[in-house]
Amino acid sequence: MAWTGRCPGCGEWNTLVETAPEPAAPAKARQKGTAAATPLPLRQVEATQVARMRTGINELDRVLGGGIVPGSLVLIGGSPGIGKSTLTGMALGNLQERGLDTLYVSGEESTAQVRLRAERLGGGALDVRAMAESSLETILATIEAEKPKVCVIDSIQTMHRADMNGAPGSVGQVREAANALAELAKRLDIAVILVGHVTKDGSLAGPRVLEHLVDCVLQFEGEKERTYRTLRAIKNRFGATNEVGVFEMRSGGLTEVSDPSARFVEEATGALGSVVLASMEGTRPVLVEVQALVSPSELEVPRRVVNGIDRNRLSMILAVLSRHGGISLGSADVFVNVVGGVRVDEPGADLAIALAVASAQSGQPLVGSGGRPRACFGELGLTGDLRYVGHPDRRTAEAAKFGLAPVIGPPVGESLRGLSPSPTLRKALKTAFSTPSEAPLSNAA
Ligand code: TYD
Ligand code: MG
Repeated sequence: MAWTGRCPGCGEWNTLVETAPEPAAPAKARQKGTAAATPLPLRQVEATQVARMRTGINELDRVLGGGIVPGSLVLIGGSPGIGKSTLTGMALGNLQERGLDTLYVSGEESTAQVRLRAERLGGGALDVRAMAESSLETILATIEAEKPKVCVIDSIQTMHRADMNGAPGSVGQVREAANALAELAKRLDIAVILVGHVTKDGSLAGPRVLEHLVDCVLQFEGEKERTYRTLRAIKNRFGATNEVGVFEMRSGGLTEVSDPSARFVEEATGALGSVVLASMEGTRPVLVEVQALVSPSELEVPRRVVNGIDRNRLSMILAVLSRHGGISLGSADVFVNVVGGVRVDEPGADLAIALAVASAQSGQPLVGSGGRPRACFGELGLTGDLRYVGHPDRRTAEAAKFGLAPVIGPPVGESLRGLSPSPTLRKALKTAFSTPSEAPLSNAA
């Protein structure tokens, strides 16, 4: 075999592991002696209703699709310090309190450190059985002996099998550990929650392989310095993948933010370059504040700095603004930020970004009815049209609930109360800057 130090797939160094190919099955086995299976029409297959173990953390249960499925494998990814150990510790504490046996395996901290955290969490957190261990063999044997209902492995990157090459965290070790745990989980009907670190670029470190192996992948995000955290399902065999849970890190652990709109709107400033986006987080409408700052650039290539939105999306929006809105930012630095450390990953955010930038550039604040902040949503097409996005009714209703109607958005089939429909970006800009101040674009039109 050729020596290869760098993965030709992802470009990472030292991630390749040697794997011996399975010996080819003798041809005979495929011909004789193997009884054929009998496939059934799906209608005749008995559908078992899976019981869920509710963790009592509503935001977590919702993202999971109603609770933890027994015997399932869940991966919770997130950068260090985001609150993975806190979240899993709280969940186990709640389950333990309700009489379900739990086990917390830490490969990163001593049991004394785990206890210190549990003291802050309250509830049944101190009743959770814990051990500090990173030897896979010992962990498997312990799980087999203890047979907990739910087990947390914190983190999968610290686990290693002694008789295998590779340091803990290497692809081979991580895959081996996850495979062995998955097999055990299915066999003994134990739900296993794997904690995984993510790299700077946001992907789960090394083990992309893990995503295929587990039933559910949850991503825990937020900025370490900020208190808001979002939990979203990237993959879920037992539920929808568009649910998002919102948490706040407090002194007593993570608290659920069940009405995020109220929080974010309360904090919305209505200042220059600020607008409220009526976004959808899964099936739930959430109002978030989008802010922009525009300043003359001293660089040849002006800066585009984003927080909470996609950078390429901003480039596209700036191009549309220039071409179809008469707002040119070719020699300005542009900063866009979603307040609260929230991420909005939907095309429905386009108009909010465009309006925030336009406000920052023109020096006119966006003021809605009664001096309240402006709310909007909608996707921008490259032709300058404002396009339909999902759930305009729920977005509008949510904004109206907080007194932010009328909302600027794309036209919907029938007229919608509280929505101020605009077919194009140009029209949206006009509406946005018309009340109570004058339209800044009269000369650009
Ligand atoms: P932690 O759950 O250890 O993060 P992770 O396992 O993802 O690395 O906790 C992260 C931070 O949260 C840590 O800096 C301390 C803080 N924290 C609180 O603010 N309040 C609390 O009640 C707890 C337990 C932690
Ligand atoms: Mg941790």
